[in-house]
Formats: sequence, C-alpha cells, structure tokens
Amino acid sequence: MLEIKNLQASINNKSILKGLNLTINPGELHAIMGPNGSGKSTLANVLSGKNGYEISGKMNFMGENLIKLPIEERAQKGIFLAFQYPLEIPGVNTNNFLKTSLNSVRKAKGEKELDSISFLKLVKEKSSELGIDEKILSRQLNVGFSGGEKKKNEILQMKILDPSFSILDETDSGLDIDALKIVANGVNSSRTSKKSFLVITHYQRLLDYIKPDFVHVLSDGKIIKTGCSELAQELEKKGYQKIS
Ligand SMILES: Nc1ncnc2c1ncn2[C@@H]1O[C@H](COP(=O)(O)OP(=O)(O)OP(=O)(O)O)[C@@H](O)[C@H]1O
Ligand SMILES: [Mg+2]
Repeated sequence: MLEIKNLQASINNKSILKGLNLTINPGELHAIMGPNGSGKSTLANVLSGKNGYEISGKMNFMGENLIKLPIEERAQKGIFLAFQYPLEIPGVNTNNFLKTSLNSVRKAKGEKELDSISFLKLVKEKSSELGIDEKILSRQLNVGFSGGEKKKNEILQMKILDPSFSILDETDSGLDIDALKIVANGVNSSRTSKKSFLVITHYQRLLDYIKPDFVHVLSDGKIIKTGCSELAQELEKKGYQKIS
C-alpha cells in the first residue's frame, strides 16, 4: 500500500527526515514512537501532502508516486491525517465541514453525494459510537472544543471518511482513560484486511488497546529500530537512550 524509500524532507533549510524507509502493507497497523523533535509529525505532514517541504526520495501509495500529488488528491485517494494539534476554524460549522469533506471524497470515487438526511444519520451513528455529544457538531470547527473533544472529532472524521490509510498523530494525548478506550475501539473496529494505519504515539498504553503489527523508533529523521509490540514495552522501561 505504502512504500517509502530514502525519504528526505527539509523545511526552511532545516533537514528533518534524513533517509527514511518504511513499507506498509494492506491491513497492517504500524506504530511510530520516538523522541520529541525526531520528525514524526513531519513524516505525517509529508505523507498527507502539506506544502512547504523540500522532498526527495520515493513515496508510493497504491503504486502511485505521492510526491507529485496535491493534498486534496491524496485525501481523495484515501489518505487521512488526524492532526497532533487540530486547527480551530472559526466560521466553519463542524457538521458542514464533515459533510463537504465526505462528499468531495465520494465524488472523486465516482459515488453519489450523500443527502442531508443520510449524512445526519451517519454522523449520529458514528458520533454516538465515539461518545461525542452531537451538540458540538453544530459548533464552529474545533473552536472552544476541549483537547479531548478535538481529538475525538478527528476520529469521527476518520470514521465518516472511511479512508484506506489513516495516520493518527498523537491522537491519544489529551484523552481521558475512558475516551482512550473509546477511540481505540473506534480504530479497532475500522481495521480490515484492506485498510492500513500509521499511529504516532509517545505512550505504550495506547498499544495495549490497539495492537500494532510493527513498532518503529524514529530518531533524528530515520527509523533506527523496528520490532513488534514488545518493543514499545521495552521503550517504556528503558527510554530511547539505550535503544540503537
Ligand atoms: N516549519 C519549520 N521550520 C523549522 N523547523 C521545523 C519546522 N517544522 C518542524 N521543524 C523542526 O523539525 C523537527 C521535527 O519536528 P516534528 O514536529 O516532526 O517532531 P515530532 O517528532 O513530531 O515531535 P513531537 O514528539 O514533539 O511531536 C523539530 O526540531 C522542529 O522544530
Ligand atoms: Mg509531533
């Protein structure tokens, strides 16, 4: 599904990703851990198509060269990013935002747009699964949402868009214990043999609920170690200093 080879990315003359290799097959869930500033969010941004980076190397998604594709086309092809810091967008109603995003993805796939009634039914079902108070959906996007509400709203967006490849950038931070379990269930119930996930986290606890196929350690722009979920437990005990 995703093949990254020798990926280098820099911004404002700062080199951040320094030769990153990663292959994710359909159905796999990969976790990325690593020290602050090692390049995890940069990798998420570069994959989702955020502008401003100078990029070299190979980044193929479903056999297509991603580097040339603009952000909207990547979303339409099924790449989704849940942000580490979801943006507050005043003046944009959350429900309208979700509906417009969904319909633009459906349109690109050649599917019929959802009418308001079907959309509201879908949003009701998904928000209740995630324990989201529907009232917040009639508010401006993320404006005044609590930290946990913003993170849950990102997962709601993921559930509604139903992407084939989801990148979750520290979606667990800021969630209370119950919300963490709900969000983890939300991810687990989305897993199929065709969909893949890249989950960025600092905490092994999330991986007790979401079982990764692989855990990678990103350090100074490169993956320096890959293992299975035991690696996350080892990191929790030893920290990053002793990993090489
Ligand atoms: N626009 C930018 N201009 C200059 N430096 C940047 C820019 N964006 C990111 N960086 C730097 O690149 C490095 C990697 O940042 P990134 O956000 O990818 O780290 P991270 O691994 O996600 O860290 P954290 O765990 O704290 O979220 C940091 O040192 C950061 O300051
Ligand atoms: Mg980050």
